[in-house]
Amino acid sequence: MTAILHTGDPERGVLWQGVFAEQMPEVQFLCSPDAGALQDVRYLIAWTLDAGLIARLPNLEVLFSIGAGVDQLDLSLVPPHVRVVRMIESGITTTMVEYVAMAALMLHRDIPFYLSEQREGRWSHADVLLCSERTVGVMGLGELGKASLQRLREQDFRTLGWSRSGAEIEGTRCYSGDEQLGAFLGQCDILVCLLPLTDETRGILSRELFTRLPRGASLINVARGGHLVEPDLLEALDSGQLRYAMLDVADPEPLPAGHPFYGHPAIMLTPHIAGVTRKDTAVHSLIANVRRALAGEPFEGEVDRQRGY
Ligand code: NAP
Ligand code: GLV
Repeated sequence: MTAILHTGDPERGVLWQGVFAEQMPEVQFLCSPDAGALQDVRYLIAWTLDAGLIARLPNLEVLFSIGAGVDQLDLSLVPPHVRVVRMIESGITTTMVEYVAMAALMLHRDIPFYLSEQREGRWSHADVLLCSERTVGVMGLGELGKASLQRLREQDFRTLGWSRSGAEIEGTRCYSGDEQLGAFLGQCDILVCLLPLTDETRGILSRELFTRLPRGASLINVARGGHLVEPDLLEALDSGQLRYAMLDVADPEPLPAGHPFYGHPAIMLTPHIAGVTRKDTAVHSLIANVRRALAGEPFEGEVDRQRGY
């Protein structure tokens, strides 16, 4: 019998096992490696990988990521013929869109400033602009970047986008590649990073990039901690080149106690909760992709292992 092995959150495993039993009884759902014959496992669904486990799955064909990103999976452990598929599901998209809209509004309305004024017992004002007077630029125009831009446009922000190959998005001017990065950055009052973490994008949020933003711009990083060069961010905030940063991701996670980001008045931190894989919705995306695997059809969200996303 064909089996799928789930690793990680046991509660999620049990829930998904029940949904598979109802909707896809032809595939055995294993909640742990000890729950069945590992030679039957053709599909693995995981957030991170255990090297020992991969070696015990001789018939593995597809690795499904619990998340939208795949950088947390050490693909060097996975034989090259195994296909890798990231998670595309409405729960991640909806929560990410909410977060980006909230973060953009908080920075737009100077909330970090007011929080620190409150802590200091002060009652002072910053200038109030309209969303239509503020440009938000999104780096990464995939599933999450495009959905976030739509909400930002509805919020009345001026919007720009940037990606590797470019995109056509009604109401958002889009830029592509290294040659157009400067033109894009030069207009962004708020920059949102929604890139995958790859060899090309690691450390992209650096001093060099910050100096290409308008003075006083703000940063929202909802992608991965590895995109950000931390000392460069501190320097840019302290010099006034950047005004605020809202960071949902860090490297490592959790950030160690005493890290300077925790107490920085211009930084707002959240613990990697921007876009959340929802147990109730993601299982249906997984089942749809397992059906595609069984039918030999293209997956939704297959990763190009060479490109890294
Ligand atoms: P996606 O659909 O794969 O889109 C990736 C986008 O990034 C594409 O537009 C791609 O350009 C662009 N890109 C990749 N490499 C690039 C480069 N070197 N230069 C310029 N653009 C580049 O990814 P997604 O589903 O939107 O997710 C994006 C990332 O969000 C994930 O990889 C993950 O790290 C992060 N994430 C974070 C959370 C959280 O809770 N904080 C939750 C979910 C996801 P092309 O269109 O030209 O290919
Ligand atoms: C979360 O970070 C994800 O990649 O889905």
